[in-house]
Amino acid sequence: MSEKKTIFSGIQPSGALTLGNYLGAIKNWVELQEDYHSIFCIVDMHAITVPKEPKDLRHNTLEVLSNYIASGLDPDKATLFIQSHVSAHAELAWVLNCFSYFGELGRMTQFKDKSKKNEGNITAGLFDYPVLMAADILLYQTDLVPVGEDQRQHLELSRDIAQRFNNRFSPTFVVPEPYISKIGAKVMSLQDPLSKMSKSDDNDNSYILLNDKPDDILRKFKRAVTDSVGVIGYNTEQPGVKNLIDICSKITGESAEAIVQKFENKGYAELKQTTAEIVIEELRPIREESEKLLKDKEYLQRIYQKGAEKAEDVGRKTLRKVYKKVGFVSRY
Ligand code: TYM
Repeated sequence: MSEKKTIFSGIQPSGALTLGNYLGAIKNWVELQEDYHSIFCIVDMHAITVPKEPKDLRHNTLEVLSNYIASGLDPDKATLFIQSHVSAHAELAWVLNCFSYFGELGRMTQFKDKSKKNEGNITAGLFDYPVLMAADILLYQTDLVPVGEDQRQHLELSRDIAQRFNNRFSPTFVVPEPYISKIGAKVMSLQDPLSKMSKSDDNDNSYILLNDKPDDILRKFKRAVTDSVGVIGYNTEQPGVKNLIDICSKITGESAEAIVQKFENKGYAELKQTTAEIVIEELRPIREESEKLLKDKEYLQRIYQKGAEKAEDVGRKTLRKVYKKVGFVSRY
């Protein structure tokens, strides 16, 4: 492997991706792929922790891969693959299960939120989800994990599990660091700017999807909830306005202060219109390219097969080390 440090991250194919997934994760990955040994996964095994239609899961998995490539992830630079194609993820997850505690998994806020939504149908998989995520990361001796703010707690757990295993045996895993960018790490709902934008929201005006058409994007931003202050400011008292400014800032690279200055003496309608236009132009090529790629199943297959082979090589090495440390008899 090269001298470069390794980054790993993944997204669940649990529906069309949102602007949150794009700004909080993929956009950063595209920049990082130049300087890091990059591995990006589509975590289909995580997606089945809540009920999924098989045909939707298949479609969404390939759609996410198309989104990755259309957003600028280069299959020649980054390893792009599907989690279930590399069995070492599930195998390592099993071992790590035996080094993870019931109490700590029960404290995961995402588990608590999701189990509220799926009451009466809380699977062991949903509970165990963060251990599989730790396996994803630790398998590749990952240095840095670029994610949105909502994954911070899972990342902490991955670090704890890695350290626990290293202390129990001997240094085996790199202890990964989170990479959570300052802007865009928590894109908020357009309808309730105090909660995060999420594809599982019942109100489809609350999120922008990567495959939304320009008219839909404009309509959703026009309806975005703001406040009654009436002046465009960047502060926590105006979370709706702040969210729009953050979205603009993440895409254009301008600072929040510069954006506020530009909108001096202007109204919310203008800020919404400008944000919509910026998002439309950012997402247009991604949507168009994704649609094209999604039709070329053979091309996608070449990418994910090559990705899985590369990932497997690295993953197997770690798994072999782990099996040896815990005392499993080697087959060879
Ligand atoms: P997932 O599929 O929910 O989200 C994928 C990525 O998008 C980020 N994200 C957001 N960022 C900013 N604003 C938002 N509103 C927003 N919504 C989502 C998430 O933080 C994430 O980076 N458990 C993970 C997937 C996973 C993973 C991994 C990630 C599995 N194994 C290993 C990193 C490393 C998840 O459910 O993400």
